[in-house]
This record gives sequence, structure tokens and C-alpha cells, in this order.
Amino acid sequence: MRVAMIGTGYVGLVSGACFADFGHVVTCVDKDQGKIESLEQNIIPIFEPGLDDLVATNARDGRLKFAIDGAEAIRTADAVFIAVGTPSRRGDGHADLSYVYAAAEEIADLIEGFTVIVTKSTVPVGTGDEIERIIRERRPDADFAVVSNPEFLREGAAIDDFKRPDRVVVGTDSERARLVMAELYRPLNLNETPMLYTGRRTSELIKYAANAFLAMKITFINEMADLCETVGADVQQVARGIGLDNRIGSKFLHAGPGYGGSCFPKDTLALVRTATDAGSPVRLIETTVAVNEARKKAMADRVVKALGGTVVGKTVGVLGLTFKPNTDDMRDAPSLDIIPALQAAGAIIKAFDPEGMDEAAKLLSNVEYCKGPYDAVTGADVVCILTEWDQFRALDLDRIKLLMTAPIMVDLRNVYKDAYMRARGFVYTSIGRPD
Ligand code: UGA
Repeated sequence: MRVAMIGTGYVGLVSGACFADFGHVVTCVDKDQGKIESLEQNIIPIFEPGLDDLVATNARDGRLKFAIDGAEAIRTADAVFIAVGTPSRRGDGHADLSYVYAAAEEIADLIEGFTVIVTKSTVPVGTGDEIERIIRERRPDADFAVVSNPEFLREGAAIDDFKRPDRVVVGTDSERARLVMAELYRPLNLNETPMLYTGRRTSELIKYAANAFLAMKITFINEMADLCETVGADVQQVARGIGLDNRIGSKFLHAGPGYGGSCFPKDTLALVRTATDAGSPVRLIETTVAVNEARKKAMADRVVKALGGTVVGKTVGVLGLTFKPNTDDMRDAPSLDIIPALQAAGAIIKAFDPEGMDEAAKLLSNVEYCKGPYDAVTGADVVCILTEWDQFRALDLDRIKLLMTAPIMVDLRNVYKDAYMRARGFVYTSIGRPD
């Protein structure tokens, strides 16, 4: 199959490279000339484990190409994927669909023969209808079908999630489009991936419902963690105790500083707006959004408390800045709330993150970015773990103790255990576990 992938952001690039690896001929199209030139030299604009090799191999074998002008690729494509950004619109939290509709117009002018137009971007219910209307209006003669095919990739595990997904959701009423989609995903038959065919609006909503449910699950365990601290219970044991019930499941029950990233905050907000506009409010999700926002802001208080009530003139050594490990993505990371709150309270910040510091430097000011974890804790009055990168699980704690002015750790990801830290002479605070 011939595929044109419009947008080489996170979703477009990973999906394009994986479809090429499935044996299809893929052209990834992006208006950003610098990005395309870099990709042609195998310079990947994001940090995603395994992606550089996947891009290099498939580009070398001629299955993966890059282009600024998508005309040729769109004209000859069996399927054109729209994988452009849908950021939160400033002011009202609705998804900004201007890039999606601009792509639809471009596609309309170029398609030849039967073409399946697929939304990979996360788009609100009804967007597929609008894309269809735009294309039909510009090209009454065109032979096409608009399909919703949401992605469920996690950053840091995206290639595996694409190649071994729990399910693939395809929203279309067109039998011809369904055959094209089945062919595109045929290699997944080998590992018996469920293909779920639904109506287009249903598929669009499945994506939001999935992300909202996961965000709600995290927020639930975060509130349980607060309750555990108050009543003297252990949230990790609560998570295990409920997670072993198959109806609940053990995943996404890690208490922490609140969810961040490019998806959950944006998608929960967009779902709230869609539901409110439709006159069918989703109150659980409204509450999830509010609780999570408040939580991220409240995390700084834990550091203040650990230092006895004031951080004025104190140095906080921050380990981890990205919203989760194995990514350089800083979007809506809890660190973006916690660090400014600590600075406002008078703290001096030193920080280290294995991949996120370039991005962080654009978003956070007055932070001393350090070469490594030991550099970041040198002279610090407290060390605060914000992201659970693997390298922070095996720190030389004796060395850290010697480098700090006092051995105090605030562990917002429950990387360590209280008894273990206490035995090493640390004053240790974590999330939802008895002190
Ligand atoms: C999320 C979903 O997991 C993907 O299925 C989805 O495709 C993607 O959004 C998207 O819509 O594009 P992602 O944002 O990459 O993926 O990251 P997650 O691993 O889901 O983590 C999101 C946030 O929740 C992070 O800040 C993480 O630290 C937090 N989290 C996650 C917890 O605090 N506790 C948990 O148990 C799990």
C-alpha cells in the first residue's frame, strides 16, 4: 500500500516509520523544511527509544521518504493519514482543528482515484464529518472515504505500542475503506490483535473516553494516596489490593505528582468542552481535570514542609523534569508547576534530567541545569525526585548524602522505600505511604 502521512510530529513519525516497517511505502510530509531536512539525514527531532534505527532502516530500504511538498505522495496514495497537532485552543480548551482542516483542504485538491483519508490526530466527535464536507465541497467528483483511526501510543514505548497494540480501532461505514485499513494493519494479524470496526463518531469518542478513563484512574489513586497519608495506610498496597481484581486491573495506579504530558491534560479538557456543548456534561472528568491541576500546584508544599516550613534561600536539587521517563517531552509536566511555585517561595533550583533539559530551558527560568544527578544535589538542602528515570533508581545514596547540606529527600514518584532510606540516614517523604 502507498501511504502519505501528513505531519511528522510524534504520532505521524512513529506511525509512518512503523507502517513502512510493515512493508508499505510511506511518505511523511511536513511544512517544516528544517525538520524534513533533518529527517532525511536521519536526525530525529524527538527522543523515542528505537525510532532512529527504525527510520534509518526503512529510509535505507526505500520504504520511508520525507517531503515538504506532499503533492506527489497524496496523489498516488491509497491512504492519506492526517497526523497534525490538535492543541488546546487558547481561551476555551476546545481542540484547535485549524491544522486538521488545512490538511483536509490540501488533500482535497490532490487526491486521485479511490483514497482513504484517515484521522490519526485526536479529534473531537464530528470532525470526520466536517473533513468529509470540506473535501466534498472542494472536489465534488472525488472518490474517497474519511476514516477515524485513533492512536493509543505511549511516549517512550511508542514503537512497541504500535506493533503490539491491545486493539486497533477503525471508524468507518465504508466497506472499501475497511478493506484498505485491514490491508494496512495486516501484519498485526500475526499476533492476533483485535480490530474493532465501529462508526466514525464512535471511534472518535473511543479515543477521548480511553484517555479520560486513564486520567481518572490516576487521579483516583492520587486522592487515595492523600487519604492514605491522613489515615496511616499505604497506597502501593491499596493499589495492589484493588488492582488484582481483574475488573479494576493493576495498571495506571501509581500515585504521583499528577498526570502531565501532551495528551491527558489536553484531551480531558477537550472532552469536557465537547460534552458541555452537547448538553451532556461529564462531571467525573470535570472533577478529574480540577483535582489534577490543584495537585500539581500543591506538590511544592511537600518540599516546603520537608524543609520545616520555609524554602527561602534554600537549594532544591531536582531530579527529573519531563512529564515521565524515556521522553524529552516537557508538555504539561508537573515540574512546570512545582519549580515556579518553589521559586516563588524563595528557593534556588538546581536540576538534572537525562533528556529534557534543552526543552526545559525554554520553559523554566533561573534554573541551574546540571551535568548529572550528583552535580544537581551538590550543596542542596533537599533532593526532590520528579520523574522516575531508571538512573534515579540506582543512585549512590552515600555519595548524595555527602554532597548535600542535609540528607532530605522528597520522592514524588515513590522510587525508594521509607525503611531503606531511613536506614541510610535520610529524612524521607514520599507519596501515600506511612512515614
Ligand atoms: C497517553 C496514553 O497512555 C496513550 O495510550 C495515548 O495514546 C497517549 O496518551 C495519547 O493520547 O497520545 P502518554 O501521554 O505518552 O500516553 O503517557 P502515559 O504513560 O499515559 O503517562 C501520562 C501521565 O500520567 C504521566 O505524567 C505519568 O507520569 C502519569 N501516570 C501514569 C501516573 O502518574 N501514574 C500512572 O499510574 C500512570
